[in-house]
Amino acid sequence: MIVLGIHAGHDSSAAIIIDGKIIADVQEERFSRNKHSNNVPLKSIEYCLKKAKICNINDVNKISFSWKSNPKGLNTVFGLKRKYSKKEEIAIEIAKTFFGKSLGMSNQKLPIYYPDYTKIGNNKFINNNHHLVHAASAYYTRKSNDKCLIFTIDGAGDNICTAIWLGEGNEIKLLKKYYKEAAIGWAYGIVTEGLHWIHGDGEGKTMGLAPYGDSTKCKGVLDKFFPIFKDDKLVKESKLGDSFYWSENGSTQFHFDEAKEVEKLIGKYSRESIAAEAQRKLEENVINLVFGWIKKTGIKKVVFAGGIMLNVKLNQRIWNNRENLIEEQHIYPNPGDSGLAVGAALLEYYRHNKFNGFNLDNLYLGPEYTNEEIEKILKIRKLNYQFIDNPSKKAAKLLAENKIVAWFQGRMESGPRALGNRSILMSPLKAENKDTINAWVKFREGFRPFCPSLLYEKRNDYLDDCRDEFFMITSFDVKKNKRNAIPAVVHVDGTVRPQMVNKETNPLYWELINEFGKLTGEYIVLNTSFNVMGEPIINNPKEAIRCFYDSGIDALFVGNYLLEK
Ligand SMILES: [Fe+2]
Repeated sequence: MIVLGIHAGHDSSAAIIIDGKIIADVQEERFSRNKHSNNVPLKSIEYCLKKAKICNINDVNKISFSWKSNPKGLNTVFGLKRKYSKKEEIAIEIAKTFFGKSLGMSNQKLPIYYPDYTKIGNNKFINNNHHLVHAASAYYTRKSNDKCLIFTIDGAGDNICTAIWLGEGNEIKLLKKYYKEAAIGWAYGIVTEGLHWIHGDGEGKTMGLAPYGDSTKCKGVLDKFFPIFKDDKLVKESKLGDSFYWSENGSTQFHFDEAKEVEKLIGKYSRESIAAEAQRKLEENVINLVFGWIKKTGIKKVVFAGGIMLNVKLNQRIWNNRENLIEEQHIYPNPGDSGLAVGAALLEYYRHNKFNGFNLDNLYLGPEYTNEEIEKILKIRKLNYQFIDNPSKKAAKLLAENKIVAWFQGRMESGPRALGNRSILMSPLKAENKDTINAWVKFREGFRPFCPSLLYEKRNDYLDDCRDEFFMITSFDVKKNKRNAIPAVVHVDGTVRPQMVNKETNPLYWELINEFGKLTGEYIVLNTSFNVMGEPIINNPKEAIRCFYDSGIDALFVGNYLLEK
């Protein structure tokens, strides 16, 4: 069975599943180069079909969408009729009398230079609830099919902000949903906007800034924006005004008037302390909600999705508070809206097939390039390069010499994290490397931490109270005796957001870290995404070359080829 999942909206994406295996999953921003692109993901769809070797889209059995009703552009692509409200119909009729039928408000057609996807049988399309799709991304990527609670928390999707589900066998059943009265994500986004970062983009910065502040200095000042959960009950609703949206470089971002109030509070209490208070309120709310439901139902297995679950500090706090109440904590590693394409595809697939658990061992689901293709690109550009038999060993040597190394190998990662295929690497041994990589390559705020990749086998040497996590979706405390050994990747609060690297999953990257360990004694490297601030992660070799020469990176490995400055 072949299912194509499509999300058109903030972080548009497409994914394809054949007989239960994710063949491809890619976000439109990687092709359009507009971060968070909300274009109809035509390039992503094209890539998915090509990777699945499908020449005719009619060979796809089902096309599963991430909303209850589609954005207009998506309907245009598939020749689907849009349902108008009574009010809209009246407006169209009036407008037609002035402008005639060619007004453009009637159902649209796509320009001829795009593939024609309009001849697909209507019975192949399925619309789904946004939060159910988030829930599916988490539930159908966990290892087992036994009973669990699923929490989906984001800004808002199909009007829902927070939902709790019961997963068991093939079924995902809604237990409780909240609309804007429990807008935990919006509240955190409003603080992010108040800090002058983009809502729906800069929340990770708010989280990174928080440990530098002191929430006790301004405890309660953000209460009016957040809801309050006591156990599983909502005891105080969030009261927010209208949301507005605005296009930032071709992608839609929301914003709120309340950000002005936050701005005033920042003037009074400092940026750091307001960020700390926002983080405290977020953690307090979600922890009350999660443990409230665990105690109410007695279910100790919990899974999560929705953009809020990108907050790795929140995820760690849930884990650290578990006592004997949590037996499984699974977070879908692409929990924001870019993970909805996979969610929609899995949801539809498991409506027709038995779910026995899923082995999510990697996220290398995007485009890849052969050595032949790479060399052709290098030659055309008249660049000096050399072929390296063992790039892992050579890269490790350069890292041990404290060089900044760009590492482009295999298939691009899906989701927001570079996991050793489109990464910029550096030694974590020197504290100043964090500033070096910021000053020469990333050009981003100095307070933001860099994260490490470490050998799976060495996880207990570096991390306290950790579990197996391969996708940088939670933080853990660094062992006290290791904090000074790898200062460039330890955040000010003593945590890291690590990627544990498995030899079977990514042998080339595992080998690189292992070789670095042999040279330095530390089996861990600094890993940041291959891009500069504000850009999507690099997709193809041309972008890699451009980024290499437009930054202070010392060496670039593309496949087996090495370029040095
Ligand atoms: Fe969402």
